[in-house]
Amino acid sequence: MRVLIVYYSMYGHIRKMAEAVAEGVSEVAGAEAVLRRVPETLSEEVLEKMGALEAQKSFAHVPIATVDELASADAIIFGTPTRLGNMCGQMRQFQDGTGELWAKGALVGKVGSVFASSATQHGGQESTILSFHTTLLHQGMIVVGLPYSFQGQMRIDEITGVSPYGASTIAGGQGERMPSQNELAAARFQGKHVATIASKLARK
Ligand SMILES: Cc1cc2nc3c(=O)[nH]c(=O)nc-3n(C[C@H](O)[C@H](O)[C@H](O)COP(=O)(O)O)c2cc1C
Repeated sequence: MRVLIVYYSMYGHIRKMAEAVAEGVSEVAGAEAVLRRVPETLSEEVLEKMGALEAQKSFAHVPIATVDELASADAIIFGTPTRLGNMCGQMRQFQDGTGELWAKGALVGKVGSVFASSATQHGGQESTILSFHTTLLHQGMIVVGLPYSFQGQMRIDEITGVSPYGASTIAGGQGERMPSQNELAAARFQGKHVATIASKLARK
């Protein structure tokens, strides 16, 4: 069973979460976690101005996702940083290239799930995930979130991302905060949860 983790990360926060999601997927017997980046749409010049060029170079070895491989996955977990409360443009562009899959109904009945990152605590993680779900539903996917059986959802003793909609992390205004242990645990839980559901569906 193949679970694709398709993400965009500018500075590495979503990338770190994606790796934790992959760990969670791999905990399920027979599930293979496959990490993919969506194509970059910004020039090197713009990335340099945004202070993201070095980080981008360090991700270069992660293969770029193709639209076609979505169709052969059993489940797809998407990761995106928040951009003004929505998914980032790179991810939107990738999604907008899936019209042919939509026309064929190629993703109908597959499990889909989303995780996110924002600079600030209330900067749009939930709206990013929920608005992304609209796209998954248009593709006929079965939307899976992060249930409260993930105990870290209840934490109020420390600042944390994470909601019933999906794992998330707070990056800080300068990107200075990397995902906390609780946020990484949420990402692992979400990966395992999605793979478990997908494996039950695959057996039917
Ligand atoms: C154009 C732009 C818009 C952004 N909009 C928001 C926002 O609405 N709320 C927020 O908290 N952070 C916002 N951010 C910060 C990013 O979400 C943050 O850099 C990202 O989550 C870090 O994850 P990454 O390192 O994986 O890219 C924005 C960043 C950019 C460049």
